[in-house]
Amino acid sequence: MIAQKSVERILDTARIDEVVADFVTLRKRGANLLGLCPFHTEKTPSFTVSPAKNLFKCFGCGRGGDTVKFLREHEGFSYPEALRFLAAKYQIEIEETQEQRRDDPEEILKDQLFVVNQYARDYFSKQLFESEDGKGLGLSYFKERGFRESILKKFDLGFAPTSGSALTIHAVHEGFRAEILQQAGLSTTHNRDFFRERVMFTIHGLSGKPVAFAGRILGKTAKGPKYINSPETPIYHKSNVLYGLYFARQAIRREDNCYLVEGYTDVLSLVQSGIENVVASSGTALTAEQIRLIKRFTPNMTILFDGDAAGLNAAMRGLDLVLEQDMNVRVVVLPDGQDPDSYLSALGPEKFLHFLETERKDFILFKTSQLLKQSKNDPVARTQVIKEVVKSISRVPDPIKRGEYIKVCSQVLQVEEALLIAETNKLVAADIQKNNRDRERQERREDIQTTSPDPTLPTAETKPEKHPPQELDLVRILLTGGDKIIQVGDEEYSVANYILRELEEEVIQEFKSPLLRTIMLDFMDRIEKGNSISPKVFLQHPNEDIRNLTIRFLSPDYQYSDNWEERYQIVLHTQRMPEDNFARDAQLALQRYQLHKLDHLCEMNAQRIKEAFEAEDEEQYLHYLKFQQELQTLRNNVADQDLNTVILK
Ligand code: CTP
Ligand code: MN
Repeated sequence: MIAQKSVERILDTARIDEVVADFVTLRKRGANLLGLCPFHTEKTPSFTVSPAKNLFKCFGCGRGGDTVKFLREHEGFSYPEALRFLAAKYQIEIEETQEQRRDDPEEILKDQLFVVNQYARDYFSKQLFESEDGKGLGLSYFKERGFRESILKKFDLGFAPTSGSALTIHAVHEGFRAEILQQAGLSTTHNRDFFRERVMFTIHGLSGKPVAFAGRILGKTAKGPKYINSPETPIYHKSNVLYGLYFARQAIRREDNCYLVEGYTDVLSLVQSGIENVVASSGTALTAEQIRLIKRFTPNMTILFDGDAAGLNAAMRGLDLVLEQDMNVRVVVLPDGQDPDSYLSALGPEKFLHFLETERKDFILFKTSQLLKQSKNDPVARTQVIKEVVKSISRVPDPIKRGEYIKVCSQVLQVEEALLIAETNKLVAADIQKNNRDRERQERREDIQTTSPDPTLPTAETKPEKHPPQELDLVRILLTGGDKIIQVGDEEYSVANYILRELEEEVIQEFKSPLLRTIMLDFMDRIEKGNSISPKVFLQHPNEDIRNLTIRFLSPDYQYSDNWEERYQIVLHTQRMPEDNFARDAQLALQRYQLHKLDHLCEMNAQRIKEAFEAEDEEQYLHYLKFQQELQTLRNNVADQDLNTVILK
């Protein structure tokens, strides 16, 4: 543990402008600095750094906070990692609280494992570059495959010598206990080296420390498994690590895309060719944790499948997991017999990149056409295909994206859109119900509902009739697309920021519906704190009414009460082409809300005019009359607002 004293020193010393400037290009603007937000794509800068307040804030996506927050979000650091990073930057010596360290054997073990791994990393590297065997067998092997020394050094590649226990003997000589070497998976229980006569890959954790190793057999002829890997240890959980991520982070963020390949050598090869935003799943199925790791840096990933992928279908099934996390997934299948490393060598970097960019397909569409191809014209198989596709679509949390997929897939599959919508909704509703039930069980609520109501049916609180339509409309837009980025004049905002900027807190306090008021204030709070405002958050909201309302809004076939359109002249823009209309929709909703309020004020004022007239109070009468004119002018201005100044980014 870092001593509180040190924490305070670090936080006092670290300057937000200096920390951010390591990652973002900033320009001075008045007292603040301005740059392009590293957390979302934008063309006009809305990312502000205030040296005076020692805070950053993005007015586009709402993210904001101090130096530690910035590093956690930008670099994916944990709290202590961020502090240690800052301490190193400002050359502050960290005082550790000793007692705590002695108290926590788990932490001590982890530290010991890191240290012994660092030793092994350096040992393997030294062997590769300096020993006879290393140079003759290892280095020549890598060179033959076209890997240059710089990449071998950057990725801490090495060589495990042929002799049975060289590493173990050296390490013990250096003072490492045999037990620790065994626990790290470097020595066997018989104190022999676990990795022998193999080229070595160091696997780095997110902060660059060596957490594990993989050893590849030399050449093709030797016996034994092609790769052997360190076992799971307290510092290495296979499902939590992606090979190459430590080196790829910046590039992933910069390119706003992450390439996922299968092999270690694929990563090396791509990075060496200048394609740096690449990580490897190490030949196993992708896990939810790994996806979350990528998602810290980008919502977009492109998966490269080896050409011989016999298990393509199985692999595709695993990808629903990725969709669930709201990632945009594209896939590229390499030609028969090729993996990224070999194909890159064959084509050269330029053509290879071009191939990736032209051949990559949206995952759901790819899956649809792939399955369709396999099913030929067999009607039973076709039904199965539809089921599979619907399953994937239902995993997509964003209802707008779901709607788009349904549209396209209904064309590809030649199935009625309505059928796909109905099938998808069933699965979405079932899923949400299951989630809710799981959570409720988790919270150990005493009275678990035995009959869960269908969340797509309105309950008392979520019935549209219960709420003033103008308020409901604003909340609907926030809940379904509050995190969408729109451009207003020259500035970029999230839809939520745009709406809440127009409706200040006092106005929100005037909302007639307590539920809707709560939601609006919840949004304000989230934006202030820089918390997520994605629809997903509200699907998981602790307040059941908010959850249900969100579900109702998010159902692709959400309808207002029947005569809504005539009654309130509300055109349901989000129903048809949602992607194009969020900006317009938000603006219209605001306008309607303002008009409604002004109408109400006019009515009240008219009543006052009447009263003053009847009381023959000329002064009051003229006063209210003038006010009425002002209200009218204002109303006309609002009604005439140019609706074309706001566009979706
Ligand atoms: N893998 C493994 N154990 C094996 C085979 C494969 O752990 N016995 C993992 C490794 O992470 C490997 C990945 O699966 O990188 C992909 O396997 P493969 O394509 O066979 O290896 P490459 O990395 O492509 O190695 P090479 O280029 O040397 O063939
Ligand atoms: Mn391979």
